[in-house]
Amino acid sequence: MENELPLDFPLEEDDIRRVRAPLEQSWSLPPAAYTDQRIFSLEKQSIFARDWLCVARTDQLAKTGDYLSIDLLDQPVVVVRGRDGELRALSRVCVHRAMPVVEGSGNATRFVCPYHHWTYELDGALRSAPMMDGLIDFDTSACRLPELRLEVWNGFVFVNRDADAAPLAPQLEGLARLIENYDFDNLVTAATTEFDSPWNWKILVENFMEAYHHIGPHKNTFEPVFPARESSVEDNAGAPWAFLRMPGKPHETDQEIPGVFPGLSGAEQHQLLAMNVYPTLLFAASPSGGVWYQVEPRTKDAMNLKIHYLLPAEIAESLDENARNAIIGEVRAIHTEDIEVNEGPWRGLQAGLTRQGRLSRFEKAIWQLNQLWLDRLAPDSSPS
Ligand code: FES
Ligand SMILES: [Fe+2]
Repeated sequence: MENELPLDFPLEEDDIRRVRAPLEQSWSLPPAAYTDQRIFSLEKQSIFARDWLCVARTDQLAKTGDYLSIDLLDQPVVVVRGRDGELRALSRVCVHRAMPVVEGSGNATRFVCPYHHWTYELDGALRSAPMMDGLIDFDTSACRLPELRLEVWNGFVFVNRDADAAPLAPQLEGLARLIENYDFDNLVTAATTEFDSPWNWKILVENFMEAYHHIGPHKNTFEPVFPARESSVEDNAGAPWAFLRMPGKPHETDQEIPGVFPGLSGAEQHQLLAMNVYPTLLFAASPSGGVWYQVEPRTKDAMNLKIHYLLPAEIAESLDENARNAIIGEVRAIHTEDIEVNEGPWRGLQAGLTRQGRLSRFEKAIWQLNQLWLDRLAPDSSPS
């Protein structure tokens, strides 16, 4: 198929061809994909306003009235469990004069806008609006906070701004089969730590999804246990996910704390896995628990990262302060090793002589992510 790119599209056709090539011949995204403001504007329209974005775990919204605010770039959203037990995602912008009606997280019986005290039910319906008598054609039943699509998958809460988006779960059937022995539904958030991440979101996502760099920043941590050379990436047939398997050396990993997933196969009892649900869900699991990297892009130059350590509820509840701090310490130590290889490429991508680079066989998930990215930003470039 002929490429039909908009005239001011910042990537060259040759750049795209190199990304579209089969893995053994393929190249990374060009620097402009990370640094150009026009690209980020396109990502806002073609990815962040249309794809399924993970915003919470169900255990963070367990009870009626539990809510959590999140900004999907310029769209303030609140996710809330209603009186009927259902989770909903609502725009949290007041339909009067656009004040966000709530911030942060907590438990509410209803949302009261701080500006003029219009009051909303947990399902977004307007309950009352003070001093609005004497108006003509003011229909309170037509005033409600707009609702976004919401879907729960393996305990992850996804929302989508596109009312016409295809449901998520059927798109993840291939991934679901790969993790069927794990009981991710049953995990709760045991500890959370946060990082400002002043670089483009794709740098972190790509780094998370390859084990090639175990020989670099993780040479003394992951590499002796989960060697880069043993890692492999599952075929995704173009579906919006990636799955990285990192088999462990059995003699090194026999000493794991007893596993928390009773159904694992022998090989799974010694493996680390990492997965992406495109674009931003990042999740890693070992036999001893899971780690969710909550990625929130802010601008082309910055994202926020929260790292949540997930465990079965009965174990999470038994942790004391010391155990929690130890978990956070471990998570931060590993991420600190990764920060160096996020910051460095971010600096390098802005250098005038930087060009696309060749991908290794061990970066197959990056190749997959790049195809998904082009499917959205340059759909006419898909190989025919
Ligand atoms: S802006 Fe919310 S009540 Fe006026
Ligand atoms: Fe890493």
